[in-house]
Amino acid sequence: MSNDNPLRSSEWFGKNDKLGFVHRSWLKNQGYPDHLFRGKPVIGICNTWSELTPCNGHLRDFAEVVKRGVYEAGGFPLEFPVMSLGETIMKPTTMLYRNLASMDTEESIRANPLDGIVLLTGCDKTTPSTLMGAASVDLPTIIVPGGPMLNGKWRGRDVGSGTLTWKLGEGIKEGKVSEKELVEAEACMSRSLGHCMTMGTASSMASTVEALGLTLPGMSSIPAVDSRKKVNAHLSGMRIVEMVKEDLKLSKILTREAFENAIMVNSAIGGSTNVMIHLMAIAGRLDVPLALEDFDRLGSHMPLLVNLMPAGEFLMEDFYYAGGLPVVLKELREHLHNDVITVNGKTIGENASDAECFDRKVIAPIDTPLQENAGIVVVRGNLCENGAVIKPSATSGELLKHTGRAVVFETIEDYHERIDQEDLDIDENSIMVLKGVGPVGYPGMPEVGNMDLPAKLLKKGIRDIVRISDGRMSGTAYGTVILHVSPESSVGGTLALVQDGDLIELDVANRQLNLQIDEEELRKRRSEWKAPAPVADRGYVKMYIEHVEQAHLGCDLDFLKGGSGSVVQRDCH
Ligand code: FES
Repeated sequence: MSNDNPLRSSEWFGKNDKLGFVHRSWLKNQGYPDHLFRGKPVIGICNTWSELTPCNGHLRDFAEVVKRGVYEAGGFPLEFPVMSLGETIMKPTTMLYRNLASMDTEESIRANPLDGIVLLTGCDKTTPSTLMGAASVDLPTIIVPGGPMLNGKWRGRDVGSGTLTWKLGEGIKEGKVSEKELVEAEACMSRSLGHCMTMGTASSMASTVEALGLTLPGMSSIPAVDSRKKVNAHLSGMRIVEMVKEDLKLSKILTREAFENAIMVNSAIGGSTNVMIHLMAIAGRLDVPLALEDFDRLGSHMPLLVNLMPAGEFLMEDFYYAGGLPVVLKELREHLHNDVITVNGKTIGENASDAECFDRKVIAPIDTPLQENAGIVVVRGNLCENGAVIKPSATSGELLKHTGRAVVFETIEDYHERIDQEDLDIDENSIMVLKGVGPVGYPGMPEVGNMDLPAKLLKKGIRDIVRISDGRMSGTAYGTVILHVSPESSVGGTLALVQDGDLIELDVANRQLNLQIDEEELRKRRSEWKAPAPVADRGYVKMYIEHVEQAHLGCDLDFLKGGSGSVVQRDCH
């Protein structure tokens, strides 16, 4: 490092006084020789490994591989844990804790003698939470996405995580799947380390951070257990040392143009609706303006190029063998900002320039896409004044213009209690409405928006009806599902006022979602509405419900927006 750009870590390790002694001496109890403390970039390896986050179960090993690369490039790696969010395990929902994990990451980075950061991520929320935290500190940062599981294999066919779960759930309701088959399918679906291998939220977020320029090229789709993943983890460790020397901070990469690229890419890969919420929260940490309308304007007209479940046929392993995200970036080059810089110091256009597709069944060329206009659409109307979203590529397509009678569930418990009752007044033209599953109301906005259909409709062969809620949907799910209704019902959005039998009109082409009700009746219902009691009166959850923003803003806590940089105002004494 040159003297005019001293290492941040030298504030801890560079002094030959009492504090310098303290900072070095205690770390030396782990066997680090003295020369590591003398002018080498200190690289923090931020690890979301946890046995309670099965998708990230290999990241403890990966940290060692990253360290090899850091040492090789002349850096000093120090690994630290942050709160890890296991999607399938945590209750009530990992989304409740995304912001808490981001605070952990932010403060852990700022408070320690770190010059550059490697984020080891995988399961859904571990990518946005760590990136939000790192963005608020703004040091040179590279992401090592943990990678998807190998394809699920069950009874001679490929099965996708999540997507198989929904199908089995329906099969159980219809009495077509036995307990024995269920237990067998569990092991066949999840047969290697790694995250969900459909184009669910984890794969979408991994692709998103590659599209943002935060990973080495082609990194996001490599399966977790493929040796080439470790090669790239090693190379990422080498590269972050150079990034520190170049002072290539997150804010230099995460520009408005980079976010626009990520929106377009998420549409072309058939990515998750959850990406919208996470991208807005990440952009908010860097004061990059990003609004719900940007997703519709930039993304909804994008063609679908990637044929992965839940919208298509294949899985992430196939995507990698077909050439992975660089092929998509190359196909989209007429739309993208190709000159934005990425972590390897080259532009995104340069990185994709020699990409080659090896399987056109998996990645379609842009002139013959799998589907036109496949991105996420934002609808508005009196039922969602601040917007709601739908992913047309995950629907049957027949219900995108539909008017139906509301069948209302006041809570998720109410839904579970009544959905399979024989006397539930519901048919294929009905619209299911679920309240109380927004950021404040649940709390944490769980992935329950893709409500299973009632058994009696499934037995009739009905596979899709319109569903509306203020919740989210798993990126592995499908159906004509309107999500993220804002404002949510628990803060008095119009959704709270819908009653059984009301007519609701959905018109996706015209971006409309309306409750057909006269103004007088709506005013009356609003004046009679009473807010539900707060769901917590202490601790993190109390802070969360008092400060969480609505879905159309990204669900960050209002006081976490922006950043505080990497400077620590006071020393320790
Ligand atoms: Fe972790 Fe799907 S449960 S990525």
